[in-house]
Amino acid sequence: MEVVVSQKVINEGNVPFLMIVMGKNRRKIRQIMAGKKKISMVTCYDYSFASCLNKSDVDIILVGDSMANVCLGLSDTKEVSTSEMLNHTLAVAKGAPDKIIVADMPYAGCQKKTSRPQETAKKFIEAGADAVKVEWFRGCKKVIKNLINNDILVMGHIGLTPQTIHLLGGHKVQGKNKGSVDRLAKQAKQLQELGVFSIVLECMQQDAAKEITDILEIPTIGIGAGKYCDGQVLVLYDLLGLYPGKMKFVRRFSDLSVQIKDAVNSFNQEVKKETFPLEEESF
Ligand code: KIV
Repeated sequence: MEVVVSQKVINEGNVPFLMIVMGKNRRKIRQIMAGKKKISMVTCYDYSFASCLNKSDVDIILVGDSMANVCLGLSDTKEVSTSEMLNHTLAVAKGAPDKIIVADMPYAGCQKKTSRPQETAKKFIEAGADAVKVEWFRGCKKVIKNLINNDILVMGHIGLTPQTIHLLGGHKVQGKNKGSVDRLAKQAKQLQELGVFSIVLECMQQDAAKEITDILEIPTIGIGAGKYCDGQVLVLYDLLGLYPGKMKFVRRFSDLSVQIKDAVNSFNQEVKKETFPLEEESF
């Protein structure tokens, strides 16, 4: 008999029902983390994309607060609210019931003085996340310890941490000198000791990411951190070629923005030519 490890509350219209999830995803997380294969993670923010990802082979879906940038057009991830992140986590969980889902703890619900991280994390688990991701900040160890003591799975995040970008002097590659590498390595070790199940390494020198990966027993998942990490994560809209800006570390595996423009132009032409809709497309 398996133990119940998480409960997902899903609202179907006005009828809330409780879905008891047996240990499946925790076991899956353990298997993926212990496996020899590199881990893949992509961000996702809505039901339709989540449904596509549910059919893909990707290991983990991250409901990232990068939603602020790519969905809301904001420059600062701190501006996304907890309720926005919760709504999108619900949508993703609904679209990708077979995937491991990690939800980003937004600044407002984790680092803000008035926030209650414990309650925020619980809401994400109720919305369908299997784990939460907490970016490194001054008080993060206390927060993470509390979450883990309350049986919530936590993914760490060090390096270029967008929620505290002002303390890092802007968007700069991390781990460029010994002092910086030592600081990052210490943070990684501390997170591991607290019990996080993996750590995202964002935008750091490849050698620094290698050093950190080598000293850890838990896997690292890199973004702009080179090839030595145990896994890689990309923002979905970046890898699909949907987001206008492109960082050096992004590879566009598709060019959907061109395909979308072409499809919409075809629609526009057919409307103008009065060849859409056809008889068979009408009631
Ligand atoms: O929000 C996000 O997309 C992230 C990734 C950069 C790891 O945290």
